[in-house]
Amino acid sequence: MKEISLHGSRILTGEAAANIGSYLPPSHIVVVTDGNVRQHYRSLCDTFPTIEIGTGEQHKTLATIDYITSELVRLEADRKTFILGVGGGIVCDVTGFAASIFMRGLPFGFISTTLLSQVDASVGGKNGVNYGGYKNMLGVFAQPQFVICDPLSMATLPQKEFVSGFAEIVKAAMITSAPLFDCMEKNAEKALQKDPQVLEQLVYESVKIKADIVAVDEREQGERRKLNLGHTFAHAIEKCSTLSHGEAVSVGLCKASQLSVALGLMSAGERQRVEALLQRLTLPATVNIPAATLYAAMRKDKKKSGDAIHLVLPVGIGRCEVREIPLATLGRLVAAES
Ligand SMILES: NC(=O)c1ccc[n+]([C@@H]2O[C@H](COP(=O)([O-])OP(=O)(O)OC[C@H]3O[C@@H](n4cnc5c(N)ncnc54)[C@H](O)[C@@H]3O)[C@@H](O)[C@H]2O)c1
Ligand SMILES: [Zn+2]
Repeated sequence: MKEISLHGSRILTGEAAANIGSYLPPSHIVVVTDGNVRQHYRSLCDTFPTIEIGTGEQHKTLATIDYITSELVRLEADRKTFILGVGGGIVCDVTGFAASIFMRGLPFGFISTTLLSQVDASVGGKNGVNYGGYKNMLGVFAQPQFVICDPLSMATLPQKEFVSGFAEIVKAAMITSAPLFDCMEKNAEKALQKDPQVLEQLVYESVKIKADIVAVDEREQGERRKLNLGHTFAHAIEKCSTLSHGEAVSVGLCKASQLSVALGLMSAGERQRVEALLQRLTLPATVNIPAATLYAAMRKDKKKSGDAIHLVLPVGIGRCEVREIPLATLGRLVAAES
């Protein structure tokens, strides 16, 4: 087990969910989870009052926050109550948001049960819901007291959900760590086979990268924007296709790499390495969305300012830059590359 500290939050990689007792206060605990995860954490959910939410991105809404808070009222939660989110990125995002606004903020923590949430969603203190057709439009910055990343939870995770997490690990490597990228190239097959040592190392390295960035820029004024690598594309792709978040990030990383090649920031060979690694990890490099549709969806991204869009672009492998790209240029490049 390894521990990473981030603004008072303890992130425990390689820790067993069964050890949850040592992280929880002695009483007043309420669990939030979803129907799938609940089946695998029966004893925990039988021990504490449990609020079950629906599964899928369509439940990452204010209606779900309304439901959780109404249940907290029914359960007579008060300032002494501790909220434990048990699940993937969606459970963590809504649990953190509901806990942060209930009575102006209750303490909360996570057992993070998908690869994607262990390496990304449950770390960093961003919580929220989608609104008005926009991803993560409403939310708060609030750090969980702890995040438990148990490798055993991968055993029950459907393969499609499991591999989605690799997209965020490749993203982390592309942002700041050429050695992590090399390590993934070397161990892709072992990772796919859920080799415990390889997985534990990949989760730890990715969390460390995210935590180091968030430590210097919690509120996304500068450095943290880099964590959005591939995501302006991904959010638009999620809106226009049935791809999961992780799959959309995979395509988004490839699209960002294509742009970087067009802008002279990356070599064609490096772009090829990115695509090849994602494909070895059984993730998509392309999606069938017309260029005009994708461009229209990207224009609506909330990170757009005026006639330009802030895009994170890879510079080689292991480095990236935030660039302000004029919308006209983006439209031309997206059309040229699709
Ligand atoms: N807050 C952030 O910084 C941040 C960062 C990245 C992603 N996200 C968000 O995370 C969300 C995606 O997260 P996700 O991919 O974990 O999706 P998810 O929470 O929907 O989980 C995926 C599926 O796996 C099931 N599941 C979860 N754990 C399981 C387990 N151990 N065994 C069996 N089934 C299990 C869930 O019920 C669900 O059906 C998106 O909404 C994305 O926007 C947030
Ligand atoms: Zn993401």
